Amino acid sequence: MRDEFLIFGKPDIGPEEIAEVVDSLEQGWIGTGPKVHRFEEMLGEYLGVSHVRCVSSCTAALFLGLICLGVGPGDEVLVPAMTFVASANSVEHVGATPILVDSVPGTGVMDLDLAEALIGPRTRAIMPVHLAGRPVDLDRLNEIRDRHGLLVIEDAAHAIGAEWRGRKVGSTGNVAAFSFYATKNVTTAEGGALAADDPRIAERVEHLALHGLSLGAWQRFSDSGYKHYDASEPGFKFNMTDLNAALGIHQLPRLDPGIEYRAELWSRYDRLLEPLPLETPPPASNEMRHARHLYQVLVGPESAVERDELLSLMTSSKIGVGVHYRAVHLHPYYRDKYDLDPAAFPVATDISNRTLSLPLGTNISEADQDDVVEALRTHLVTRIGVGA
Ligand SMILES: Cc1ncc(COP(=O)(O)O)c(C=O)c1O
Repeated sequence: MRDEFLIFGKPDIGPEEIAEVVDSLEQGWIGTGPKVHRFEEMLGEYLGVSHVRCVSSCTAALFLGLICLGVGPGDEVLVPAMTFVASANSVEHVGATPILVDSVPGTGVMDLDLAEALIGPRTRAIMPVHLAGRPVDLDRLNEIRDRHGLLVIEDAAHAIGAEWRGRKVGSTGNVAAFSFYATKNVTTAEGGALAADDPRIAERVEHLALHGLSLGAWQRFSDSGYKHYDASEPGFKFNMTDLNAALGIHQLPRLDPGIEYRAELWSRYDRLLEPLPLETPPPASNEMRHARHLYQVLVGPESAVERDELLSLMTSSKIGVGVHYRAVHLHPYYRDKYDLDPAAFPVATDISNRTLSLPLGTNISEADQDDVVEALRTHLVTRIGVGA
């Protein structure tokens, strides 16, 4: 048994991030300022997208992105059933209707054939989710977009650094939202960004993220003198602060080596878990670069241990684990509002019941990983006598 609890998704914060935050504190510019701007430039360059705006969360980026695309009441948006509720919530918040789409078995990503079959006269947009860091087929997605004249807003909360046929997620002509929440591959504690090729979308996002004001605080209070601002529409308070961006500007350069390290742990999990009654994630295809955000196993149907029981057993062994996700249609709000039957989403329902995410990250060592595998083996062997 480990001495210390292995925290799931513990952020990997280095001395550069700490020094940068201290620098902001000492300088006194702790709100939205030059570091946010610098992080936006770095993201644009990394993603190969001409305009990026940082906001307070990916949820805010999805919400503002939908507003800027003109999605609203009367519109339908195709959203995967297998996602975090924030994806569907953003659609609800703009007054549109999320139409849930079942998953591809194994990978859990939105089934694009099913999505296309659900397109009707009110369908306005598609919100694919690059689940666990695995990009959806962006060629197929964009072909559906163009054939049906739809808008696409990619929920890339898990997928900064993921690529489809050599092109980064978020760089194929769609609006894309990223998350820098504490557990993500790049973290700013809380934060998000919207990437867009259209400068008008980026400018409106910036504007709406700070009360709808014509000038951000940084511009108003700079040393070139006070300037008045105009409020041209009622905006929100979704701006990122320099304290958050201070983390991001040192996290981003470590993303690519981090994905490589995660990929090594990933293959090691695949190998070590093979004898256990678990389904490991399908391999990444040659067309993609997987961002390796979440390593999810499915508790095998032959196992006598239910997933929920295994969750408690792992916690009692001092191993933090996660569930990504309980599908949207299983949450009371969506189930009741849209009268959704779990049987209509058989793949997402099955994943919801059996999925378990294991610790994966740049601060997870092989020894930590051995502890995870040992704990799984102990619980599975003890409970069902699997000779692994
Ligand atoms: C798929 C997905 N979309 C959206 C979000 C929302 O991200 P944030 O917490 O930055 O708002 C998350 C958060 O984990 C997520 O997993």
